[in-house]
Amino acid sequence: MAEYGLTEAKFHTKQKHAFLDAYLNIWIENVGKKSPSVPSLEIFDLYASYGRCYCDENKEEWDGSALISAKCLKNYPRPKTLWLNSYSEDNEEKEHQHKSLQYYLSQLELPESFEVIISGEPILDNINRALRHCDPKFPSNWILDPYSPAQLPWKIVENIALHEGTYQTSDGTAVTRRPELFINLLTSYLARFSAIDDQKHIVDEALGLPREEWEDILSGYKENGIDLQTAILEIYSHRLAEIYGKYPIAWKVVGTEGNIVYTFLLITESNAGYHVMRLKGKHDMMEWFNHDWTQKAKELKAKRSIQRKASKSSKVALFLSDFEENSE
Ligand SMILES: C[S@@+](CC[C@H](N)C(=O)[O-])C[C@H]1O[C@@H](n2cnc3c(N)ncnc32)[C@H](O)[C@@H]1O
Repeated sequence: MAEYGLTEAKFHTKQKHAFLDAYLNIWIENVGKKSPSVPSLEIFDLYASYGRCYCDENKEEWDGSALISAKCLKNYPRPKTLWLNSYSEDNEEKEHQHKSLQYYLSQLELPESFEVIISGEPILDNINRALRHCDPKFPSNWILDPYSPAQLPWKIVENIALHEGTYQTSDGTAVTRRPELFINLLTSYLARFSAIDDQKHIVDEALGLPREEWEDILSGYKENGIDLQTAILEIYSHRLAEIYGKYPIAWKVVGTEGNIVYTFLLITESNAGYHVMRLKGKHDMMEWFNHDWTQKAKELKAKRSIQRKASKSSKVALFLSDFEENSE
């Protein structure tokens, strides 16, 4: 086992990280540099993994949620807490994740102006400690990025969303604040599980709704020609809107084959954050997606197609150079 590990990721995962980075940059550039009184900022990354990602298919490495968050706080004028929970059922893997996180963080030479807390608990145990640590009167960002929908029951999302605090503005108005949330909504898994009897309990838990209720809503969407993934996204967005009073901003993550893999959601009460992300963030994301990501995705797809053809033909392509020869 290499000393410092990386989270194995498909190339489409980069979109999730670009979206997170775009929003946290708004904190640095707009809130941190332009607000008359800069508020403190805490980030809770509850599925932090190794800190950096690696795509085996094109040998590319990039920052995962933990390092993106650490860099945000490093560049933000009033950082408060970086909470990284990195858990695996396999103890050896968990230790490897922690060692790696510590190594990557040490490379960043973080200032002492904020605390870094690294834990290694299943979400159901970590959530209460994290919530106790977070004073809801001040801004906090929460990143919920599981591998499977079973790892993110709705009650976790709801507990965070309802962790509200009240503060007074300079003119004495009382304002209620809720945490900002990033959620990786695993729509393709949920769509699949919604049609398999012995997996439906995962959908019950993930949506936090009785089975008859979500089945009924899904069949209504189906009758209107709406696909399952979109329907699940609608149900989830609606649940969030019931608490936050607005719908989340959603980035549908597209696989290199053009399929939707999952949806990355951002929900914030801040009108300014919402507005800037919708306009500036979306614009930057689209530029990056169209010009950078899509081009590389096309190259990967072409390479894969050649690989498939080669494996069908009598000539077995063993080296990458074989694919490159074929692609000329
Ligand atoms: C998709 S990865 C997270 C990737 C990371 N956010 C990034 O951007 O690099 C999901 C992580 O959740 C962890 N995990 C699995 N089950 C969990 C649970 N019940 N509670 C907390 N974390 C869990 C996995 O070990 C894995 O590290």
